[in-house]
Amino acid sequence: MSGKRVLLIVGGGIAAYKALELTRLLRKAGVGVRPILTKAGAEFVTPLSLSALAEDKAYTELFSLTDEAEMGHIELSRSADLVVVAPATADLMAKAANGLAGDLASTTLLATDKPVLMAPAMNVRMWEHAATRRNLAQLKADGVLFVGPDEGAMACGEYGSGRMAEPPAIFEAIMAALAGGRPLAGRRAIVTAGPTAEALDPVRVITNRSSGKQGYAIAAALAKLGAEVTLVSGPTALPAPPAVRRVDVESAREMLAACEAALPADIAVCVAAVADWRPSEVSPQKLKKGKDAFLAAGMTFIENPDILAKLSGHAQRPRLVIGFAAETENVEEHARNKLKRKNCDWIVANDVSIQGTMGGDENAVSIVLRRGIERWDRMPKGEVGRRLAARIAEEFQ
Ligand code: C5P
Repeated sequence: MSGKRVLLIVGGGIAAYKALELTRLLRKAGVGVRPILTKAGAEFVTPLSLSALAEDKAYTELFSLTDEAEMGHIELSRSADLVVVAPATADLMAKAANGLAGDLASTTLLATDKPVLMAPAMNVRMWEHAATRRNLAQLKADGVLFVGPDEGAMACGEYGSGRMAEPPAIFEAIMAALAGGRPLAGRRAIVTAGPTAEALDPVRVITNRSSGKQGYAIAAALAKLGAEVTLVSGPTALPAPPAVRRVDVESAREMLAACEAALPADIAVCVAAVADWRPSEVSPQKLKKGKDAFLAAGMTFIENPDILAKLSGHAQRPRLVIGFAAETENVEEHARNKLKRKNCDWIVANDVSIQGTMGGDENAVSIVLRRGIERWDRMPKGEVGRRLAARIAEEFQ
């Protein structure tokens, strides 16, 4: 694993002393360690002992001019293959879960585009507190990896869960994350998501019920596996997933232009529910009420470009082009026809006649390949995203 580098954030807890042993194990394995000590962390171990073992400078202050001159905090946050937080205190977890950036450690966690591994360490009551449970769930949803905590006797005299994992276990988790965590590293992916909105006049649009949840989950999962993801999104209420470049668009034609601008790419996943038609004209003034308002404005409907078909037939065609087929009947048959007609590699078919699929949190899909079909059970959309990303990664092994 020589040549790899870890950014090690040491939080303020009695377990901070174990960060020294962890640093020693990593250096012995040829992994570079660049330490960041929080203010509280520096109460438990000194920057001097940490930097001596790490053979690198220990960074401590966000607003230090000398530190910024040597390496800006954004550059620092990306200067390693993996960011490790050990010990990850309740405070650091809360900051990271909420995107706070008041010191070097939390700013680094917000600014990094690298995977993050946390080794929590805190008193059992803090670990079991509802706030920490919420933060843990949020961080997991954001793609943060965890090792531990263990159960056992604590420095505070209590017994329970919250003790930081031992350095050899953290070391193993780091090695696993460095080795296999990012099988799509170096691959570029385009994901379309959400509905499109086609303008009728300055205030009205034609749109549909797509929430964007499935497309966002796929974009997040691909990014977690290391892909460089451009998420071309129609109007949704969702926040951009971490480490994903989101391009906001409204109409189908804007969506197509944004996809073409993101080429070349290795993977395209078209999840967006693109409006099939758009008004032939966009009225410059708000249309007045009335039965024949559209006709009076000279409006008919014309077909939108098919983004999936365009990407499949593009001179810079991505190696793997995947479409979605939301159907209410004969799902697999329609999906197979779509695969041929649009010349894509896979169609992810789902039955939207099942109550709660469109706009809901679960999906039951089948993957229709050129040869064969893979049927998956009903599962949360996040899980469909992770499984699809893993399945895509298999194609690139
Ligand atoms: O033909 P249909 O709309 O059912 O095909 C659905 C698939 O095609 C989805 O992957 C969707 O994102 C894509 N599509 C597209 N551009 C369109 C229409 C559909 O990319 N104009």
